[in-house]
Amino acid sequence: MSRARITLDRDFTLGEVPRRIFGSFVEHMGRCVYTGIYEPGHPAADENGYRRDVLDLVGELGPTVVRYPGGNFVSGYNWEDGVGPVEQRPRRLDGAWHTIETNAFGLHEFVGWAKLANVEIMEAINLGTRGVDAARELVEYANHPGGTLLSDRRRANGAEEPFDIKLWCLGNELDGPWQIGGKTAYEYGRLAQEAAKAMRYVDPTIELIAVGSSNSGMPTFGEWERTVLTHTYDEIDYISMHAYYQEEDGDVASFLATAIDTDYFIESVVATADAVKAVGRHKRQVNVSFDEWNVWYQKGLDTPDQPTKVAASWREHPRLIEDRYNVTDAVVVGTLLNSILRHGDRVKIANQAQLVNVIAPIRSEEGGPAWRQTIFWPFARMSEHARGQILRPAVHSDRIDTAKFGDADVVDASATWDEEHGRVAVFLGHRGLEESAEVEVTLRGLTASRIAQAEVLDVPEGRDRFTANTEEEQPVGLRPLDGVTADGGTVRLTLPPLSWAVVLIEVAVA
Ligand code: AHR
Repeated sequence: MSRARITLDRDFTLGEVPRRIFGSFVEHMGRCVYTGIYEPGHPAADENGYRRDVLDLVGELGPTVVRYPGGNFVSGYNWEDGVGPVEQRPRRLDGAWHTIETNAFGLHEFVGWAKLANVEIMEAINLGTRGVDAARELVEYANHPGGTLLSDRRRANGAEEPFDIKLWCLGNELDGPWQIGGKTAYEYGRLAQEAAKAMRYVDPTIELIAVGSSNSGMPTFGEWERTVLTHTYDEIDYISMHAYYQEEDGDVASFLATAIDTDYFIESVVATADAVKAVGRHKRQVNVSFDEWNVWYQKGLDTPDQPTKVAASWREHPRLIEDRYNVTDAVVVGTLLNSILRHGDRVKIANQAQLVNVIAPIRSEEGGPAWRQTIFWPFARMSEHARGQILRPAVHSDRIDTAKFGDADVVDASATWDEEHGRVAVFLGHRGLEESAEVEVTLRGLTASRIAQAEVLDVPEGRDRFTANTEEEQPVGLRPLDGVTADGGTVRLTLPPLSWAVVLIEVAVA
């Protein structure tokens, strides 16, 4: 049996939970849009082609904001192709994913879907092949009330009211050699600065996100952020970061401790932003938009029934990177969300990539069903219950050895305190593969009256840690976590091996 002690003090808070950290991402890639959120003719599709079965699952998952339309896709995309009468929209080659883009789905369709899904839109502009003019024109089209060429075009296309999109990404992964129109930090920094200015001249209320590094292993990581922020600091609000993780060479211990790398990555980006702030004598604070993160099996696991590689060849919506997630992946995703929440004082937006089919918590089949992958559950419960103040947990845990990160806590935690509803929510990832873990949560300044809810995701009986949910069966989900006790200031519970759990404690101020 492993052991962990967690202390939560009502005075040790990091501020309000930024609800935008429970974001997601819809890219024109593979089957995320077509046969994912949109499939005219599907038995569950409504009159506009939106799949209601997928929308129901999105509602359960609870994303607050959704980034659109890419991703690598956006760096070769002309937004004008996706507006106006559908029959007049061009078919295009999407060079990023070697796919035919029909443009049957575009900005108006996404806005309509976002309303039904009750999510905020986070729109990315193309700073790969395009520039300042297309950027400001898109803001005019989307956000200007009317009486100008582009705003009147939107109205003529059926949207009388402006879309009022607040969040804008200034391109995508332009540090990457794979990116269409990739740039040096200087080239991108200057372009982003000018695009941001011009976009704000059209609508001063928007919030802007500059492109940071595609991952912390990029050779330009650090220097990219420094240069880009030096040019853009006064014009933007957030710097982005992206990270994808996977189990490599059977090193499950390191994979389970991935959140250590996420902590390091976030703290490095924050430190770089603050250094630029100091050097430039800036008053405002630039925060972090972690706008692509997830588990993604980029290496290995490429089988015909689980295509993880880009195997498309000028087809419409081919199957791309439809990773099938297992129990281990769900625990890692839970701990990545813990890391994001623990940094909620600086990470103000985060988007799990992506929403449907493409490395996604939701899967759907053309003409067939939709279902929840294993990684659906930690996201859904954290989005639902992480409310109020972020508590800073003091964790004293048994440790496990990892090849990549040295020793790591066997139990990983994050917590929130919702004063209005008198609830503390504790989110726990257990990295131990063999033994259970006894966890003692000590509350300071709060007393526990009752356990309102306790659920756990672990390896289903008789199965192993690679168990996944498929079209045929979905054995991995949440079950009640029995035996959780609350006694004044102390809550005790036992986590099964390799598990993720949520515990909701009814509390009163002591
Ligand atoms: O989410 C899949 C891809 O990963 C995105 O298009 C790109 O931005 C990233 O490299």
